[in-house]
Amino acid sequence: MRKPIIIGNWKLNKTIAEAVSFITAIEPLVHNKADFGVAAPYLALEKSVKAAKHLIIASENVAFAESGAYTGEVSVAMLQEIGVKWTLIGHSERRQYFGESDETVNKKVLLSVKNGLTPIVCVGETLAQFEAGDTEKIVRTQTAAALNGLSGEDVAKLVVAYEPVWAIGTGKNATKEIAQSTCAIIRHEVEIHFGKATAEALRIQYGGSVKPENIKEYLSEKDIDGALIGGASLKVDSFTAIIDALKA
Ligand code: PGA
Repeated sequence: MRKPIIIGNWKLNKTIAEAVSFITAIEPLVHNKADFGVAAPYLALEKSVKAAKHLIIASENVAFAESGAYTGEVSVAMLQEIGVKWTLIGHSERRQYFGESDETVNKKVLLSVKNGLTPIVCVGETLAQFEAGDTEKIVRTQTAAALNGLSGEDVAKLVVAYEPVWAIGTGKNATKEIAQSTCAIIRHEVEIHFGKATAEALRIQYGGSVKPENIKEYLSEKDIDGALIGGASLKVDSFTAIIDALKA
């Protein structure tokens, strides 16, 4: 049985003080029916790690190189020094606004895994690609490219998040049928490259307008093992409602 994993993605939100106060409020509410956590802005990570006991604290990005002339970047070692153990990689906003490519995503994944930082690798098609019927092709390509060069053992430990770009921050969440069928395609792609046992162990999240009202629907689907949640992770009330929805 794969344990569900629910991660809030704060994006460009929350000062250090706001992050700590959120984590302090949420920490006593988490339970062991799922793994819960947040991806926080770089500056808030160190204090977030200190404030968290059970919550996973992830960075939202990481550099593709170990060190060197890459102004403005933050390396795996820098994150690990402050106790960060997880990172998002390849979020569609990184791909859309910051030139993230399948190649840089792969470099980041390899570097993270090699050094023991667990990636949550994001894949997903744009609206134009969805409308053109290219979803399967896109997620297969992005998944295979991101994981290229890893062992099956490594892949089994990480998380893939399927996030259709058209569902992110739009309120237009994918139906549970669409989310399930694309997550099954991702699992199949992993099976092709790494075998059935790895594919069965891998946790795959759905992301895109997940809220307290629809989280259970997604998690009832066979290939959906959690959620990556933007908007609904920003307020203590709605994140609490998500945590509570998974109690039963
Ligand atoms: P959303 O964002 O829940 O606000 O749609 C999801 C994400 O970008 O991870």
